[in-house]
Amino acid sequence: MDKLKGLILSGGKGTRLRPITHTSAKQLVPVANKPVLFYGIEAMAAAGIEEIGIIIAPETGGEIREVAGDGSQFGIAITYIEQDAPLGLAHAVLTAEEFLAGSPFVMYLGDNLLRDGIVELVETFESSEPDAMILLTQVPDPENYGVAELEGERVTKLVEKPERPTTDLALVGVYMFTPAILDAAKAIEPSARGELEITDAIQHLVDSGLRVDPHIVRGWWKDTGQVQDMLDANRLILEELEERVDGDLVDSRVEGRVVIERGARLERSTVRGPAIIGANAHLVDAYIGPYTAIGERVTIVKAEIEHSILLSGSSVRDLAGRMEASLVGRDVSISRSPALPRAYRFVVGDSAEIAIL
Ligand code: TTP
Repeated sequence: MDKLKGLILSGGKGTRLRPITHTSAKQLVPVANKPVLFYGIEAMAAAGIEEIGIIIAPETGGEIREVAGDGSQFGIAITYIEQDAPLGLAHAVLTAEEFLAGSPFVMYLGDNLLRDGIVELVETFESSEPDAMILLTQVPDPENYGVAELEGERVTKLVEKPERPTTDLALVGVYMFTPAILDAAKAIEPSARGELEITDAIQHLVDSGLRVDPHIVRGWWKDTGQVQDMLDANRLILEELEERVDGDLVDSRVEGRVVIERGARLERSTVRGPAIIGANAHLVDAYIGPYTAIGERVTIVKAEIEHSILLSGSSVRDLAGRMEASLVGRDVSISRSPALPRAYRFVVGDSAEIAIL
């Protein structure tokens, strides 16, 4: 088999993660202070893949290029491929045709996280040589996913969000393909929502008599397309954190699995892990509870925060109640105003959500 390439899909609209995605790519939202996208790149590098193509959208591609660079920080080479419009996962594959140049490839959705990586999957694909291999996991609500029906060791049918599911095996956002998928993507028509669906392209492989193998995922899998998923992913990754304190603690305590990055300063504060405090963050009279990721240069004064993600440069001051299950963007300021008349004062972007006590 030719050397496997990697294709990471980091275009898309990210409508379900607004307002964060008004100004930034959802694949760059940090999970445990690292962009989601990096987990996918690292999983590929760990599986021995050397060339990765990243599909980007015109609006957010520049930022992705800047952050992931030429790939040398991961020990791989990155080629950026611009997709003019998010016309579907199979359309993204077609956009990458030149980059793929006839090689087999792993396709990885840039907002997905797979606990156990893809090493075992790549080995199975290379040794058993099917025409495609799809990753599946059991879910309690298959009606919300693309699902696959199996017959013995083969995939026979794929259905997108079935009304009456006959299987609880949902498609995970990682796929192994041979170049046959390109012909299939060219043969299908856009779906009712106007996208070239990867499920239709895979179904086309099956219908053409090609072999599509299932691979059941054992460790957890997370699609971080929505806020609650992002918080869940953050929790799952933080669960496996290794303790490390490089910042300064002044009259402060850390309990459990906590990382305090270099340059961070804690004064009269408590951090109860699993939690991570980013470089140059400043905490004063603060409590940070489990499953919280505080970004670089964040300031927290007289506030309690739990089970939340705060992006770099934000500040939270003088909260009367505990903040939880929150996703706060970059350079956001949340504070109490002493100015009269006593009133709430908001300057909030489109699609923001605020819940006050
Ligand atoms: P989705 O989450 O299905 O789509 P989306 O990013 O447009 O989000 P939303 O539904 O909230 O509007 O996409 C899965 C991944 O694939 C994600 O990382 C974006 C990427 N993608 C592309 O690169 N090109 C595309 O045409 C599509 C549809 C998605």
